[in-house]
Amino acid sequence: MQITKADFKCSSEKISQVPKDDLRDVAFIGRSNVGKSSLINMLTGRKGLAKVSSTPGKTRLINHFTINNQWYLVDLPGYGYARVSKSTRGEFSKLIMDYVLKCEKMHFLFVLVDSRLEPQAIDLRFIRMLGENGIPFGIIFTKTDKLSATQRRKSVERYSATLGEEWEELPPMFCSSSEKGTGREEILSFIEKCL
Ligand code: GTP
Ligand code: MG
Repeated sequence: MQITKADFKCSSEKISQVPKDDLRDVAFIGRSNVGKSSLINMLTGRKGLAKVSSTPGKTRLINHFTINNQWYLVDLPGYGYARVSKSTRGEFSKLIMDYVLKCEKMHFLFVLVDSRLEPQAIDLRFIRMLGENGIPFGIIFTKTDKLSATQRRKSVERYSATLGEEWEELPPMFCSSSEKGTGREEILSFIEKCL
């Protein structure tokens, strides 16, 4: 898929504020600082589209970006950073849970994980929650420019083995680097197929 047009549409602090049209959402989530916003900029080829920061917790709202006037690419708030506030129950905020479980626009969810780290408990809990609720998702390994080809392969194998302990079928997995543009073609053609 070629992205010819990418425009910021809106930020939502509540599920009731997300766009009410028929365009489908493809969303990106993961721990704070994993590289969601950077990946969105890399995929769209628009450097400043989503705000990138070295301070975790930059993205607090649900951000919709219209792609080719055909679908929405969605930047979700990171989990595992903001202290759990009174309005949130559990480790994933109400905003994240409402969006993931209730938003009918949500068509596919990419869970981003840092390729340099061994499988993190919070990511595994999030993935389990998705599986239990039948949410279609895939995994994107981020920041692979920091690894050698061998380390990259090992990282994917380690994740597959961990998920394989619990799941019969593995989700689609992609390696990415926003620095180098790695994974762009694979991820975009996957999105094209699932839309
Ligand atoms: P929050 O919005 O705070 O949850 O973070 P985020 O997941 O959107 O992460 P963001 O894209 O803001 O990136 C966090 C940090 O990681 C920034 O300092 C980025 O420059 C860096 N980063 C993101 N992607 C890559 C990558 O592919 N390679 C390298 N080397 N650094 C990256
Ligand atoms: Mg962000």
